[in-house]
Amino acid sequence: MRVFIIGASGLVGNNCMQYLRGDPHFEVIGSHFSFATTDTEYFNVFRPEAATFDLDAFHPEVIIHTGALTHVDYCETHPEESFRNTVESTTAVLELARSYGASLIYISSDYVFDGRSGPYGENDPVNPLSVYGRHKLQAENWIRGTYPAHLILRVTNVYGDEMRGKNFVAFLIREARKGEAKTLRLPIDQYASPVNAADIGRACARLIRDGKRGLYHLSAGEYLNRVQLAEKVLRYFPGNRLRIAALPTKKLGQDAPRPLKGGLKNDKFLGEYPDFQFSTLDDYLRKQHGI
Ligand SMILES: NC(=O)c1ccc[n+]([C@@H]2O[C@H](COP(=O)([O-])OP(=O)(O)OC[C@H]3O[C@@H](n4cnc5c(N)ncnc54)[C@H](OP(=O)(O)O)[C@@H]3O)[C@@H](O)[C@H]2O)c1
Repeated sequence: MRVFIIGASGLVGNNCMQYLRGDPHFEVIGSHFSFATTDTEYFNVFRPEAATFDLDAFHPEVIIHTGALTHVDYCETHPEESFRNTVESTTAVLELARSYGASLIYISSDYVFDGRSGPYGENDPVNPLSVYGRHKLQAENWIRGTYPAHLILRVTNVYGDEMRGKNFVAFLIREARKGEAKTLRLPIDQYASPVNAADIGRACARLIRDGKRGLYHLSAGEYLNRVQLAEKVLRYFPGNRLRIAALPTKKLGQDAPRPLKGGLKNDKFLGEYPDFQFSTLDDYLRKQHGI
């Protein structure tokens, strides 16, 4: 099956590409936009004709769209840029999928919820608080309303192997290894359900193979606030000189409002795939230490 992954230089897209490329059932092309890598092709969703490969010849059967403006606070102060890169980019990719008769997989977020009563299931009512959350939901709704051959996968607190190490866990590991004294100001009241990007790749493979449609939440089932998450990571670096200042969100001065009790339940996915084992943060950290 031919799969085109838009955003394979990023955290989710790259992990999906690595996993699917290891499965002979899939033939995969992954793309980058500004961050060229040795195993991706250049592709801009707004200018598909400028791609460095022949997408028509590849004729994808599945397109995974991971591109978005993901910096939540930046989105809050740059709503037009956010709309362009999250909503308009998705409508452009949807038309591309339509032109090939391909199914479309869209990666969304728990920021579509208001965080009053998470973790959330697929049937819980949405109510985004931020520009980023509203635009993720707008993109979801556009797909749902216009293109039946779709899968929407909501995730949050994604971590894992990443070339640029932008994710929060990678940042903590890097800072802990530096051994410098530093205070991290972290919210004690923002809860979510971390998921390893590699598991998103594994889950994608199962869902694609089975021709699944609709909405799935993916999470490992752990429910942690940012301070708990950081403490879990830092326990693996006993000599680190990082100190955590645990603060309520309102003291952090973040531009975008956060869903405080966010996070996602994985009951629907595990109900359909009871043999699927999500890895935990401890599994990942043990692997980092070769234990
Ligand atoms: N990370 C999380 O915790 C998290 C949580 C919830 C939802 N999500 C969603 O998951 C998706 C992937 O997130 P991520 O963390 O993997 O983000 P990421 O690391 O920033 O990756 C985004 C990818 O999109 C590409 N891209 C950006 N603009 C593009 C354009 N105009 N045309 C083609 N490609 C473009 C980027 O390419 P270059 O880097 O090469 O420019 C990059 O490969 C996003 O939709 C995000 O909203 C992520």
